[in-house]
Amino acid sequence: MSGVFVVFEGIDGVGKTTVCASVAEMLRARGLEVAITAEPTHEGIGAFIRSGAAGDVSQRTEALLFVADRNDHTERIARDVEAGRVVLCDRYFASTVAYQSAKLDGDSTDRDWLISINSDFTGRADATILLDMDPLDSLNRVGSRGEEVSKFENLGFLEQVRDNYLLLAEMFGFHVIDASKGREDVLKDVMAVIDRLV
Ligand code: TYD
Repeated sequence: MSGVFVVFEGIDGVGKTTVCASVAEMLRARGLEVAITAEPTHEGIGAFIRSGAAGDVSQRTEALLFVADRNDHTERIARDVEAGRVVLCDRYFASTVAYQSAKLDGDSTDRDWLISINSDFTGRADATILLDMDPLDSLNRVGSRGEEVSKFENLGFLEQVRDNYLLLAEMFGFHVIDASKGREDVLKDVMAVIDRLV
């Protein structure tokens, strides 16, 4: 049996990582084989991005690095799906379009370019789940976890990223879930999407 590829997207602090872990636990309890993965990856180009070793590169170069990481990642995901696993992926191509277009001028030319550089290197997800939340609430969550607020995590910027995500959701048919609800309710909404696939 071929597996399933599910992507989780959303602004920082929205709870993607926790939701992924809970979904994995529920699916494993049903006897399914689950692989959790994330971008930037922790290998090769992903590790290079995370290390900050690229230094002060242009926004376009940064976008190309995320896509280069995605190219290798997509091959690994395809192998897992072929092996019959449910792959839960924390961020994928929409992150590059939503974040990097907010960092560029944010106009439609940037967006079209970012979509086009992804097109040859991106696999088709069976579902993309957008966990949507007001950045004011998500930043509070990041702060309350005692985590350092990264350069991506300021309010005006995240508001733009959220708007970009909502636009992409319409363009690509993502499942938009209100992530400001309680953890159990969010999980229920997410499982309703995944149950149609597994
Ligand atoms: P994040 O999911 O927060 O990783 P972790 O929780 O493991 O630190 O991702 C790190 C940041 O990278 C996040 O602020 C979003 C940003 N990002 C992009 O700007 N473009 C991309 O294509 C990806 C995958 C991530």
